[in-house]
Amino acid sequence: MIDFHLNGRRQRCADVRADESVLELLRTTLGQTGTKEGCASGDCGACTVAIGEPDASGEFVYRSANACITPAHQLQGCHLVTVEGLAEGERLHPAQAAMVDCHGSQCGFCTPGIVMSLFTLYEEQRRNGNEPPAPLTQARLEAALGGNLCRCTGYRPIREAALAMGDYPPADPAWLTDATLTQRLDDRAVAAVAADTAETGHYAVPRSLEALRKLKAERPQARLVAGATDLWLETTQQLKALEDLIDVRRVAELNAIEETTEGWWIGGAVTLARLMPLLATPYPAFEHLLHRFASSQIRHRATLGGNIANASPIGDTPPVLLALDARLRLDGARGARELPLADFFLDYRKTALEADEFIAAVFLPRPKADHCLKVWKLSKRREDDISAVLGAFAWRLEEGVMRDVHLAFGGMAAIPRRAPAAEAGLEGRAPDAAAFAAARAALAEELAPMSDVRGSAEYRRLAAGNLLERLRLMIAADHATADDTHSATQVTLDAYAH
Ligand SMILES: Cc1cc2nc3c(=O)[nH]c(=O)nc-3n(C[C@H](O)[C@H](O)[C@H](O)COP(=O)(O)OP(=O)(O)OC[C@H]3O[C@@H](n4cnc5c(N)ncnc54)[C@H](O)[C@@H]3O)c2cc1C
Ligand code: FES
Ligand code: FES
Repeated sequence: MIDFHLNGRRQRCADVRADESVLELLRTTLGQTGTKEGCASGDCGACTVAIGEPDASGEFVYRSANACITPAHQLQGCHLVTVEGLAEGERLHPAQAAMVDCHGSQCGFCTPGIVMSLFTLYEEQRRNGNEPPAPLTQARLEAALGGNLCRCTGYRPIREAALAMGDYPPADPAWLTDATLTQRLDDRAVAAVAADTAETGHYAVPRSLEALRKLKAERPQARLVAGATDLWLETTQQLKALEDLIDVRRVAELNAIEETTEGWWIGGAVTLARLMPLLATPYPAFEHLLHRFASSQIRHRATLGGNIANASPIGDTPPVLLALDARLRLDGARGARELPLADFFLDYRKTALEADEFIAAVFLPRPKADHCLKVWKLSKRREDDISAVLGAFAWRLEEGVMRDVHLAFGGMAAIPRRAPAAEAGLEGRAPDAAAFAAARAALAEELAPMSDVRGSAEYRRLAAGNLLERLRLMIAADHATADDTHSATQVTLDAYAH
């Protein structure tokens, strides 16, 4: 039984399959067909809904999500808002009214998803007492709409609607101002957290580390599910049945972020959206990369643990974490163990996780003095695309020579990995053309990229070498402007902007 609210009204749904999506539940069981199915793979945004749940500080927040790849069971205790729930009688929500007035809709198929992304953006701009909503920056607008495709009107009128909606008088749906709704949902969420396991058929929802350990030991064959942004494609694209699932999203310990003098232990179920503000100061290049990780909808649900456990050779965070010497805390029935991330990836999609284990946390060390990090993601589109090649480079300069050089790549082997021979070519050397030429030659020898739809092996080898050359040029530019405020980080951000 899933107990949640839909557009302000309580819903209790029985007999929901373990691998049923929010989209299927909405359209088939509940007859709410405003939310559309385009790709069923998280790419087009036609199915965007808003899911309201309390955030870490207890504040109730509505975030956009792709209904096609969100498990229906994750709605337990949440408030699901769809395009049917925005208007108050005849009065359209500002997101809807602005789309009408700016002619942002032609086919109408993508429109409900775009309206829902605009709705969550409007509510976000309004948060913290901003009434009327705070003005939109270009970057915020692009981030909010990066996961919504429109093939026919073009994006200009949609962007105009986004920019205009803040000028419309608020037309709040009744549920938004209903204080008792938030209270009712809060009460149920709290009650749910108090229970140790809440099993619904084969969809288990442990709330504590102990409960997760026990479940995974009892059912080692069960698949773990976190944000489901990878796993759910097995059912929507490959049509596999996922009948035995353990959801780690509500395990309190996996949602914690613990700060120590050496760094941060980040729980395996922490979402990328939550991670971004943490990274902004110590590692702006890493934070900036996450702006290019999929879309807002995906980042709201995808977890760091899921990105690592998925063990894709083109996953975005593993190369950066390898360059930063991250460690993992794996946990299971036999207790916890620590492992350098470099020892986690064994072969294509094979990891060091035992059948009863899970990723409990990821340790991110603090940057040392003079530590530099640069990250470049190469993909065909800037928004919502997977890497063809990703390079993450960390080092420090000591009396003119490079030390602690870590060069890590995604898309250059069957696993995300460092390039030790290329690193050796730079370690202890001045960052000059000769050293980098040696590093590029070593790199070409030691990494064997594959050919696939994102790029040929030849392209990848050339691109990875070019990233090293770009690194050399940027270090040189940094030196040339050492007296300016044009820092290494700024150079990296500029590179992203172009
Ligand atoms: C449209 C789209 C765009 C995408 N773009 C990107 C991108 O730009 N960059 C990128 O890197 N990825 C991208 N992805 C892939 C995906 O979003 C990420 O890999 C994401 O981080 C997966 O996290 P999740 O929480 O959703 O994992 P899930 O899908 O829930 O799980 C993925 C795998 O990890 C396992 N797992 C989950 N949590 C744990 C845990 N704590 N311990 C052990 N095993 C666990 C699951 O059993 C499963 O095998 C994209 C996906 C889509 C659909
Ligand atoms: S249907 Fe395309 S993202 Fe869900
Ligand atoms: S209005 Fe539907 S694709 Fe553009």
